[in-house]
Amino acid sequence: IENESDIDKVFQGIVELLDENIPYYDWTGFYMIENGELVLGNYVGKPTDHVKIQVGQGICGQAADRKETFIVDDVTKESNYLACSFETASEIVVPIIKNDVVLGEIDIDSHTPAAFDEYDQELLESIANMLIIRF
Ligand code: SME
Repeated sequence: IENESDIDKVFQGIVELLDENIPYYDWTGFYMIENGELVLGNYVGKPTDHVKIQVGQGICGQAADRKETFIVDDVTKESNYLACSFETASEIVVPIIKNDVVLGEIDIDSHTPAAFDEYDQELLESIANMLIIRF
């Protein structure tokens, strides 16, 4: 594992790059697995109460559990959902997986309904796959 502060800069750079360049990304952040739970890492957007999320809980926890990207077009229709902001309409969560182990995930919220498609999925999965070389 590389120096913590180098990793932090890389993660911060990614969330800022995404936030600044993609207008419908309204909350962009990382949750990383620490001691078996998802812990909020670098993010751009409003502060969230969900600093720790259990695997299986919410969209984030379900994506970690299933080990696959989870796109939600309308968060109001999800029963297993953790609201960060009442403005959020849709969400994408992309797990960062190495050797079948989830290390963390990229989580994006949008105020636009059904904002995320396979283009977002491909972009974010490429970023997730680039990051695993650092672990
Ligand atoms: N909505 C997420 C919680 C994280 S906030 O979006 C930042 C969920 O349901 O897991």
